[in-house]
Amino acid sequence: MTKRHILVTSALPNANGSIHLGHLLEHIQTDIWVRFQRMRGHTCIYVCADDTHGAATMLKADERGISPEALIAEIQAEHTRDFVGFGISHDNYYSTHSPENKEFAQAIYTRLKEAGQIKVAMVDQLYDPVKEMFLADRFIVGTCPRCKTPGQYGDNCEACGATYAATDLIEPTSKLSGAEPVLKQSKHFFFALSNFTDFLKEWTRSGTLHEQVANKLSEWLDAGLQDWDISRDAPYFGFEIPGEPGKYFYVWLDAPIGYMASFKNYCSNHPDVDFDAYWKAGSDYEVHHFIGKDIVNFHALFWPAMLQVAGFRTPTAVHAHGFITVNGLKMSKSRGTFINAATYLEHLNPEYLRYYFAAKLGSGIDDLDMNLDDFVQRVNSDVVGKVVNIASRCAGFLVSKFDGVLAASAGTPLIAEFASAKDAIAGHYENGEYGRAVREIMALADKANQYIDEHKPWVLAKEAGNEAKVQQVCSDGINLFRLLVTYLKPIMPTLAASSEAFLDIEPLGWDDVDTALTGHRINKFKPLMTRVDPDAVERMIAAGVETPQTDTAPTLEPPLGEEIEFDDFAKVDLRVALIVAAEHVEGADKLLKLTLDLGGEQRTVFAGIKAAYSPEDIVGKHTVMVANLKPRKMKFGVSEGMVLAAGPGGKDIFLLEADAGAQPGMIVR
Ligand code: 2FM
Ligand code: ZN
Repeated sequence: MTKRHILVTSALPNANGSIHLGHLLEHIQTDIWVRFQRMRGHTCIYVCADDTHGAATMLKADERGISPEALIAEIQAEHTRDFVGFGISHDNYYSTHSPENKEFAQAIYTRLKEAGQIKVAMVDQLYDPVKEMFLADRFIVGTCPRCKTPGQYGDNCEACGATYAATDLIEPTSKLSGAEPVLKQSKHFFFALSNFTDFLKEWTRSGTLHEQVANKLSEWLDAGLQDWDISRDAPYFGFEIPGEPGKYFYVWLDAPIGYMASFKNYCSNHPDVDFDAYWKAGSDYEVHHFIGKDIVNFHALFWPAMLQVAGFRTPTAVHAHGFITVNGLKMSKSRGTFINAATYLEHLNPEYLRYYFAAKLGSGIDDLDMNLDDFVQRVNSDVVGKVVNIASRCAGFLVSKFDGVLAASAGTPLIAEFASAKDAIAGHYENGEYGRAVREIMALADKANQYIDEHKPWVLAKEAGNEAKVQQVCSDGINLFRLLVTYLKPIMPTLAASSEAFLDIEPLGWDDVDTALTGHRINKFKPLMTRVDPDAVERMIAAGVETPQTDTAPTLEPPLGEEIEFDDFAKVDLRVALIVAAEHVEGADKLLKLTLDLGGEQRTVFAGIKAAYSPEDIVGKHTVMVANLKPRKMKFGVSEGMVLAAGPGGKDIFLLEADAGAQPGMIVR
């Protein structure tokens, strides 16, 4: 096999929050791939960094009364500690606020400019006159121009799903100062992405992306790309644009460049590694980015186009994954399922999580659900019950009766059969199909256990004259165990290291499956992994529950709307309605079409609850509706009322349900 040179990255975590399950899914996915490549003898360098720039960092540091530099240093130390805790084997964990990144960002920008790919345009933007800064959409709230719901953010309405410009909001206010923003013009710099549509159509179909992702990008590419605004006005925490005082690079310009910068920093400390060999145009070394599906536009459109113009190679592959849910729902602080890395580590072994994610990961962008009962059950039954169990069943006899020495030759064809699975399992790892790899490995583990069950060394050992047989069966068991551990090593490096210590062998490489251990002395068995304690899982969830603080005046998010009189409220006619039919609406991402029975009449209502309810689950339920809302013409038809639902959004929207004794048409108060 030719030796490959591979540079791998995970998306750079933001320097304004803690590492949580979402980051871990990605870093564990990446780390498994990296460890697999290293086991195969390739050079595989894994770099990452904190993504430090942007208004959010600046404001957070302000709030804490410290400098942004102090804030990002503190967070970087926390992130590094968390990743080490999960065995993530970054070769370098750096920062985008680094001299290397500044140099690359400025150099790349200059090359884009020299190539005529930077445009300048005046942009009207909302400006906070008190804070004296332009406001990003998430720092502006106001009333939705479409459905008139107050407290909506500057880009879209959570109540009706409308998307709009912040300037369209009714009565906008700045979240930072409460002041009314004013419109102000400013000069912005744009990367002429629209010139790269043809290049990107080809690049995205050249084997760099999973088909699901390429298809998604085709929608944008076919619709035509917009030029990309890469500048932000002072005050901003970031790098100033060369020759443009008061103008800064938008954080998303220098974030991916942070991959190069972290690698450059690694090269400075490893003179044997040649930066240019990896990044020069046309390089046959590989660059792989692992990211979440929400940021593919940055990595598979803007980034390759920028690299191409700036005279660097483009990525070999961008591996995107889906989102994580816990027990079928979005992670939630109030339910304790927004699990931070540090909280997890206080309660559970990180390799449980590495195994569980691996067992469920494929190469596509489907979301991954961490069902906590399934997590406990799966780790216990597979890793402890099937794999570790083999060693514990065999080691005792070998140590007590044969001084730990294994038989002189392999006794079962299973050993060769296990070894012959090597290429298929490697293929699954290479393709990011870890779930498949795990299924194959566990099928082998089942065979190993069957072999031991059939030969029953504990029965053989009771009769004199069976010594050689006992030694053979137990040695075979140990060899099968060793092969399983080799295959699992990218996923569970600590289990592998303790197994290597127990077997008294050098660190296992992928090709070690071609040989068996014979006549070799192993050490006394110590438990290699204990079972997941379901109570520890509960304690972890309880420790993560965040209840709103009550000692200070609560600030509502989004802020409360304008106060109304009781008479205004009394105008709202709330009725119990029976959901008699519910169906999907073609072309609508969020809506269900409901037919509601009010006792005397039926109404059609479009409700934005698709992510939370399936049609079949809600038919037959009673709900509460606003019955006297003027019919509204929507894109998909006329909506004759509104059902009441509450929740943070997405899957967490809960219909307000009427009491079981309610009759359709009843007034609700
Ligand atoms: O989405 C995020 O959390 C970004 N900080 C990821 C940046 S990835 C890369 F481009 F830097
Ligand atoms: Zn709205």
